[in-house]
Amino acid sequence: DRSYRIAVIPGDGIGKEVVPEGLRVLQAVSARYGCRFRFDDFDFASCDYYLRHGKMMPDDWKALIGGHDAIFFGAVGWPEAVPDHVSLWGSLIQFRREFDQYVNLRPVKLMPGVPCPLAGRKPGDIDFYVVRENTEGEYSSIGGRIFPGTEREVVMQETVMTRVGVDRILKFAFELAERREKKHLTSATKSNGISITMPYWDERVEAMAAGYPAVRWDKYHIDILAAHFVQHPDWFDVVVASNLFGDILSDLGPACTGTIGIAPAGNINPDRKFPSLFEPVHGSAPDIAGKGIANPVGQIWSAALMLDHLGETDAAAAIVAAIETVLAQPHLRTPDLGGPADTVTCGRAIADALR
Ligand code: NAD
Ligand code: IPM
Ligand code: MN
Repeated sequence: DRSYRIAVIPGDGIGKEVVPEGLRVLQAVSARYGCRFRFDDFDFASCDYYLRHGKMMPDDWKALIGGHDAIFFGAVGWPEAVPDHVSLWGSLIQFRREFDQYVNLRPVKLMPGVPCPLAGRKPGDIDFYVVRENTEGEYSSIGGRIFPGTEREVVMQETVMTRVGVDRILKFAFELAERREKKHLTSATKSNGISITMPYWDERVEAMAAGYPAVRWDKYHIDILAAHFVQHPDWFDVVVASNLFGDILSDLGPACTGTIGIAPAGNINPDRKFPSLFEPVHGSAPDIAGKGIANPVGQIWSAALMLDHLGETDAAAAIVAAIETVLAQPHLRTPDLGGPADTVTCGRAIADALR
């Protein structure tokens, strides 16, 4: 019935500044496209909550948000007060794992009119997706510390790749590539140095590729792939990567388009057994929090990814078009893009462009 229940979790730092702009744009799109939202606000998954309760989330968090159609999330982390591994493993990483959001879909696009830090690049030269594995790989809980505090101290954290886990992210990436015009997939590897898990990843890519004859594919070791992102961003269409490699590439890609402040992410459970979560790629940015100057576009574009996931594709496309209209105007850009606008000015302009 085109009415959606959205769990809203702003988190920490600039999460609390950009989430309201995302909601403002969702309200604007709702009026025009006839979809309706019920927003339920939650204060957990934040360091404030941790300082009050001694944990990041209530014990029944899964029941509280597991029935929603989607989760609209800001950012977590306030390292001055709570160590990052405590705040992130106690919240965001739990969402991804427990809700089996095994795809982290992160579009990278140079927007019209936005100055590109790479010389000579124009819109169209940079327009690809990073498809990041989001539930296993290097982010595993297998490991530990022995003989703590002694000279014999040992720490280890194993990379875990399962056949199911690798194949399902590759399948998603190949299917995405197949739907796109260029039909090109690039796999990030490091099989020269990481000699067990990465050759396995390569093997599964090759096996999966056999089922997608229309997709042209290649692979690069992550080190030179990072270099190619800077020197040849036009080579890429769909880039599939393990959890850690995908994390790094999805900051590098947006940086090549001017700022990580515009980058969105969909943490998606394609099986739809659990809600998917939509958030900007960036973090809570303690260095600018409270100043009202954060770029709200990453959060707003994440709202568009959420609408796509909910089947509201016209509304989603309208948000992306509104973002492009606003970013093309220098006076509406935030300081990370060299502009004078504050968070609210930029967010309002995008909402107004939708009316
Ligand atoms: P960060 O993304 O928060 O900030 C990196 C730099 O980019 C900072 O200089 C910041 O000011 C700038 N920046 C980020 N987003 C911006 C925006 N929207 N507009 C303008 N400038 C922006 O990364 P960090 O400094 O490594 O991490 C800060 C905290 O956020 C840590 O606690 C970290 O663990 C956490 N973090 C959370 C998430 C998440 O919730 N998904 C993601 C990354 C980092
Ligand atoms: C991201 C973030 C997280 C990650 C951190 C905060 C745990 O960097 O969403 O990209 O590494 O996945
Ligand atoms: Mn990251």
